Amino acid sequence: MADDQNSGSGRSGLSRRRLLLGGVVAGLGAATAIGADLALNPGADGPAPEPAASVNGSATVPFYGVHQAGITTAPQAHATFIALDLQHGVDRDALQRMMRILSDDAARLTQGRAALADSEPELGTVPARLTVTFGFGPEFVARAGAGDTRPGWLRPLPAFTIDRLDPVWNDGDLLLQIAADDAFTVAHAARMLLKDSRSFATVRWTQTGFRRAHGSEKPGTTMRNLFGQVDGTVNLTPGTADFDRLVWNERGWLAGGSGLVIRRIRMDLDKWDRLDRGGREQSVGRTLATGAPLTGTSEHDEPDFAATTSIGFPVIPEFSHIRRARSENTDERIFRRGYNYDAAPTGGEISNSGLLFVSYQADVDRQFVPVQRRLDELDLLNEWTTPIGSAVFAIPPGCRESGFVGDTLLS
Ligand code: HEM
Repeated sequence: MADDQNSGSGRSGLSRRRLLLGGVVAGLGAATAIGADLALNPGADGPAPEPAASVNGSATVPFYGVHQAGITTAPQAHATFIALDLQHGVDRDALQRMMRILSDDAARLTQGRAALADSEPELGTVPARLTVTFGFGPEFVARAGAGDTRPGWLRPLPAFTIDRLDPVWNDGDLLLQIAADDAFTVAHAARMLLKDSRSFATVRWTQTGFRRAHGSEKPGTTMRNLFGQVDGTVNLTPGTADFDRLVWNERGWLAGGSGLVIRRIRMDLDKWDRLDRGGREQSVGRTLATGAPLTGTSEHDEPDFAATTSIGFPVIPEFSHIRRARSENTDERIFRRGYNYDAAPTGGEISNSGLLFVSYQADVDRQFVPVQRRLDELDLLNEWTTPIGSAVFAIPPGCRESGFVGDTLLS
């Protein structure tokens, strides 16, 4: 559509120029006139120059390894999170069979190979950095016979006063986090894996999220959420000692695994629209333009929480999200890897959007819960945000080529 419009206005611009030129070069042949036009307006005629070709579809992320892929992987543009409920009678042996099949097909699909029973194998050939990350809910772990080795934090989060949870978005026995730089790839992988799990489990909820498309921005650019905020600046960095200590579990069947919290947080864009820019920036404590703290000039400047205005108020308000989210206890840190969502509006509103808040941490109770408690007590952002779904999963470690995801628990 936009292209048509552009070429349309290009054509009329060209005709106008030709008309004007017609007077100047009267008497010359048409070809000469067009040649003159091109000389005066290089590039005005003919197809627009093609941008340098860059094809990303064949890019792959290894499936096998110490940790599951999709955690330290630079976030892909699209992600679908699917929670499954185990069917009655699915016991430990059945869980093992299911995880073998799922792991095998996930491994194939992520490497650009068709799933074993793929009736459209052509659709499996564009991995676009596909990753599949599995998470186990409390019921899965109980049926697997974890007993005392079930992590204490693997249960629904405590109730928070800000929560308005709708059970359709809560909990689940098995999580599939399917992410790629191509939404088509995600959709096909989801279908293949759901076919695999059909005789073991049913879909409880599906949540689809997005970031900027691959290639729209320089790699490494911090994502923006739908409030326009730069979101993800202060985060644990994969490959650092802090990340390893605070994201990966160390013990038992979860060694090399992690804990995942997913919260569906509604963002009231219509109400946000009514707030002036200054108010928006104060609510978080950072500028909208660059994500710099209100006391700094660039995104990664360290916020100065002690700085005050000429009349003695903190420059970064006490109620601001970044002040409330930061703990003095540096162990209370999490790795955020969320996505935006934009669902069909209901009622008279024009948007039904928000954040699929996703965080990874070794211990949900010790790291996520205290941060969420502080935000529950005070955070101006709560005026425009409402958690409407919540789930916690144990993320088992990765596996070897001869194994399957969950084999440390199920073998
Ligand atoms: C829709 C809901 C939310 C929005 C729009 C939002 C937005 C933001 C923004 C814009 C920042 C500043 C940039 C950055 O450092 O990433 C930030 C920081 C942060 N947020 Fe949120 N956030 C939301 C929910 C949450 C939740 C539920 C938690 C955890 C319970 C959380 C934890 C954090 C942390 C830990 C930081 C870094 C704070 C620091 O500077 O140390 N956020 N968030």
